[in-house]
Amino acid sequence: MEEPKTFFIKTYGCQMNELDSDIMVGQLTKRGLERVEDENGADLLIFNTCSIRDLAERKVMGKIGQLGRVRKRRPIIGVTGCMAMAKKEGIFRKLPHVDFVLGTNNITDLDEVLNDYIQSGRPSIRVDKQFEENLDYLVAKRDSKVKAYVSIIRGCDKFCTYCVVPYTRGPEVSRPPQDIIEEVRKLAAEGYKEITLLGQNVNSYGKDKPEWNCLFHDLLYQLDKIEGIERIRFLTSHPIDITLDLMYAIRDLPSVCEFVHFPIQAGSSRILRKMHRIYSKEEYLEKVHQLKSIVPNAALGTDIIVGFPTETEEEFLETYKVFEDIKYSVAFIFTYSPRQGTPALRWKDDIPEEVKLDRLHRLSDLHKRQVAEQYVGLLGTTREVLVEKRNRNGQLKGRTSCWKKVIFDGPDSLVGSIQKVHLHSFNHETLVGNISL
Ligand code: 5AD
Ligand code: SF4
Repeated sequence: MEEPKTFFIKTYGCQMNELDSDIMVGQLTKRGLERVEDENGADLLIFNTCSIRDLAERKVMGKIGQLGRVRKRRPIIGVTGCMAMAKKEGIFRKLPHVDFVLGTNNITDLDEVLNDYIQSGRPSIRVDKQFEENLDYLVAKRDSKVKAYVSIIRGCDKFCTYCVVPYTRGPEVSRPPQDIIEEVRKLAAEGYKEITLLGQNVNSYGKDKPEWNCLFHDLLYQLDKIEGIERIRFLTSHPIDITLDLMYAIRDLPSVCEFVHFPIQAGSSRILRKMHRIYSKEEYLEKVHQLKSIVPNAALGTDIIVGFPTETEEEFLETYKVFEDIKYSVAFIFTYSPRQGTPALRWKDDIPEEVKLDRLHRLSDLHKRQVAEQYVGLLGTTREVLVEKRNRNGQLKGRTSCWKKVIFDGPDSLVGSIQKVHLHSFNHETLVGNISL
């Protein structure tokens, strides 16, 4: 089999997958392949998949399934990411035209797996359970020149009963602080202004390596010192691991944004217990209270699952009430989706789809109204916006430190800079303003 010359990559799912795709793009470019945007011309197709909900998996299966039928010239097809881990060899059975399967912990092996396939013409698979810290993050090829994802911890040890991640990404493995610092320094030297530290649970950082003596807040203090990085964000935080030290770091470090994605998942303590979230509603609200008293301007984000097995209307109303009280800036709301291999599968998925959707709509309507109120409160004020790029309508686009999207007119030279923008109106989820001189 010939060495492929071009490749196409499609990414599904979360930010960690986006970063993994950027790393694979870097690896393939180093190998001499050229990235193409049209899958029809490509010699190699990679699908970096997600298993978090059934819909995500169905999309990928449908997409790759189609390729088996319609194509004349056969490209090499590789499946990577969480579905590779969830289905392993099963992927070859379901999709016989797939040539290699590469798990979330084996991105380093992309070259090797390709070589195997090219030499033997036989399907190849690498799906290690645990991540080995041997990945060359520095090859990553990012689309943006302004903001970058930086991985600090992989895997998850929390085992929420609904979630596939502990099985598809394995146990928590922190990345050495000096490697993270080296990468962030390099990004700063290349002109990047914002980094988002990534992990399924960033607040667990360093706990698996006590000998490093570097917990998440310690890492923030180190990264804040790096000249040129104006903003540091982080995703995702498990409420149980949010410490007072972290709250002080958010308050005291100028580059750390006052925005915390802090998923509650459900507002009923009984459901939280069943989800194995290891905090009660009261404990969560206490953390929010602490955070707000230490960082009064902190904006909060959440993820929610509605229609978890046995969730009653009253229990859903507890989630609704939490929303009324907290007034999140960002909320991702999902209907429960049973996943193979998770403990929640032992319970019947007993909430009818229309009830789940009704709860989802009620909550997202409330959230939309609250966001609109937050936007009204911002009108007439001036906010610092990191300018990321020009949007399709020719306006400059960026975000405030609290992650609010802002558009305004201005020259290209402003991309990559922080501008003071006077906000005068908003449409949908975007604030509109003009540069204040
Ligand atoms: N069903 C619905 N939503 C889920 N999530 C994780 N697993 C499931 C599931 N089985 C949601 C959680 C998590 C987000 C990334 O996806 O809210 O925080
Ligand atoms: Fe999944 Fe829970 Fe781990 Fe988040 S903390 S990745 S929801 S198991």
